[in-house]
Amino acid sequence: MSALTAAAPGAPVVDLDLAELRRDPYPAYAELRRTAPLAWVPSVGRHLLTRYDDIVHAEKLPEVFSSREEGSLLLRTVGPNMLREDDPNHRRLRAAAEPPTRPRQVRDLWAGAFERTAHELLDGIAGRGEADLIADFAEPLVAADLALVLGLRDASAEEVADWSRAMMAGNSNYADDPDVWLRAEQATRAIEDAVARAAEAALREPDGSVISSMVHAADPVALTEIQNNVKVIIGGGVNEPRDVFGVGAWALLNRPEALDRVLADPASWKRVFEESARWISPIGMYPRQLTQDYEIAGLALPAGSRVALVIASGNRDESVFERADEFDLGRPHRPHLAFGGGPHFCMGAWVARHEVSAIAWPLIFSRLKGLRLAEGAQSRMDGWVFRGPTSLNVTWQAA
Ligand code: HEM
Repeated sequence: MSALTAAAPGAPVVDLDLAELRRDPYPAYAELRRTAPLAWVPSVGRHLLTRYDDIVHAEKLPEVFSSREEGSLLLRTVGPNMLREDDPNHRRLRAAAEPPTRPRQVRDLWAGAFERTAHELLDGIAGRGEADLIADFAEPLVAADLALVLGLRDASAEEVADWSRAMMAGNSNYADDPDVWLRAEQATRAIEDAVARAAEAALREPDGSVISSMVHAADPVALTEIQNNVKVIIGGGVNEPRDVFGVGAWALLNRPEALDRVLADPASWKRVFEESARWISPIGMYPRQLTQDYEIAGLALPAGSRVALVIASGNRDESVFERADEFDLGRPHRPHLAFGGGPHFCMGAWVARHEVSAIAWPLIFSRLKGLRLAEGAQSRMDGWVFRGPTSLNVTWQAA
């Protein structure tokens, strides 16, 4: 398979401005769903697939819509990893890494520590009466949780968050900025060293973490494979739960009646999570490459074609979600696409759900009395490949 870097014959070509997409991609997606559900977008270098049903269809055919995209920036930044592999190699890596992230393990092994960390962070800010809940709470919380689940015992939350930023910048370094590559390489080296130390310790003393699980996998995994996969997980495991936290908190702080209903029924935090992830999906799209000629959305694509599955668009598809642009906790349940689908369905879904909906949201609203958005605070959503609020400035009655 060789990558085709141009429009497939007959595919509509739609020019989209990347700066505009970053600011707000949803109007462009609505237009694409209506008029060109599979369109070649030159600035993205891929065909964008934007309707819910077509994305679900593609996810059911991983042997046609391959994750091994040639020339991917993710591969350059972290090296071969499960996210850009197909089965059977993907299955081997995933089976080795996944056990510590299953719902039962999250509850039995990690939930207590997640909650302690959240309380410590809130202890640190409660007396201030104001904070940016993204920078001062959500990011350090999910970074510390991730270090724990991965088994990076001697890495601080700050280091993990810094590494994550450097990885993410590398993965989206379309401008080929040498400084970005340098920072990504420095982070890469630091993660490799930390993983090597953790793997050695886990070999002597298993600790239930992802690294430990990979070290002791029945189907062997090499150290470099563990290192690369930990890099991918650090790249994605911080910003996405942080962003969904920010979206849900922001939505509720702007909707006092919905907030009151949620506070009266704590079971509904789960619904807040799913609706927030649907409404503003932390990952907006991800790439696939065709292994064979295939017809989708009414167009015949040749083998090698690049396709982006735009899950943020599928999650706003009006044929599936009525009044899809609204944040609505009462909407009928339909599965959203925010965690992807098929064999690559997010491995950290249960970690993210628990740390955000069972811990972070309930704790900020119970501990920070009178929590509200700061006067004049503008929570700007930013990004289209990854999207979330850049800050969440709030005030409360200081204890
Ligand atoms: C709200 C939070 C999160 C969202 C919305 C999210 C979303 C996604 C999506 C859409 C994919 C599929 C990408 C593709 O198929 O190319 C994915 C894969 C993945 N996610 Fe997440 N993620 C979140 C949190 C996390 C966390 C906290 C972790 C780590 C603990 C994590 C680890 C992974 C891994 C390892 C994969 C690759 C799975 C595979 O290739 O089999 N994610 N995630």
